[in-house]
Amino acid sequence: MANSATRAAHSRPVRLIAGVFLGLILIVAIAVIVVWLAVKPRKLVYTIESGSIQNFNLTNNRLNATFNFELRAYNPNSKVSIYYDKIETRVLYDDTTLAFDNVEPFYQPRRNVTHLGLNFVAKNAELFPGIAKNMRVDKNSREVELEVHVKAKIRFKLGSVKNHRTLRLLCAPLVVHFSSSRNFERTPCDVDL
Ligand SMILES: *[C@@H]1O[C@H](CO)[C@@H](O)[C@H](O)[C@H]1NC(C)=O
Ligand SMILES: *[C@@H]1O[C@H](CO)[C@@H](O)[C@H](O)[C@H]1NC(C)=O
Ligand SMILES: *[C@@H]1O[C@H](CO)[C@@H](O)[C@H](O)[C@H]1NC(C)=O
Repeated sequence: MANSATRAAHSRPVRLIAGVFLGLILIVAIAVIVVWLAVKPRKLVYTIESGSIQNFNLTNNRLNATFNFELRAYNPNSKVSIYYDKIETRVLYDDTTLAFDNVEPFYQPRRNVTHLGLNFVAKNAELFPGIAKNMRVDKNSREVELEVHVKAKIRFKLGSVKNHRTLRLLCAPLVVHFSSSRNFERTPCDVDL
C-alpha cells in the first residue's frame, strides 16, 4: 500500500513533464502546418527554351549524337526558396532513353528564374531496328520529336522550416530541328510534385 503510494508520487511529475512536452510538440506541429498553409507555395513553372542536335551519326542501329536543351526553372514564390539536391535527367526518343545527364545541385532563391543547360551525349547507343528506322526517316525530314524527363530531390524552405519532396518533370513533345537555322518552339513541362 505504502509502496504504490510512493510510486504514484514519483510518476506524477514524470507524467506531467511528458504531458507538457507532448503538448509543446503538438503546438509546434500545428503552428508549422498553419504557417505552411498560409503561404501555400505557388506552382513552380518549367519550360524548355531551346534544343539542338550536334554530331549526329546513326550507323548500323547505333547512335552517336549530342542533344542540348535549355531548361528554364521559375520559382514564383515570394516566401519559399528551393534546394535542388539531386537532379537526374534523360532524353528519350520513342520511349527509348538515348542519354542521361546529371545536373549539379543548386539553390533557387525566392522569385527567381534559373536557366539550366542540359547536355546529353548518346555514345554508340543501341536502338531497336524499328526505332532506328523511324529515326532515319526523321533525320531525312530534318526534325525529330524528343522527350526530356527530370527527377529531382528538392527541399522547400520557408524560414527555418524545410519540406522534402520529389519533383518530376515531363517535357514533351520537343520538336528539335537538325538544321540550327530553324527556331525551337518553347515547350512547357508537366510538373508532378
Ligand atoms: C558515322 O560513323 C561511322 C561508323 O563510326 C563512320 O564510318 C562514318 O564515317 C560516320 N559518318 C559521319 C557522317 O561522320
Ligand atoms: C560513335 O563513336 C565511337 C567513338 O567515340 C565510335 O567508335 C563509334 O563507331 C561511333 N558510332 C557511330 C554510329 O558513329
Ligand atoms: C536566380 O538565382 C541565381 C542563384 O542565386 C542567381 O545567380 C540569379 O541571378 C537569379 N536570377 C534572377 C533572375 O534573379
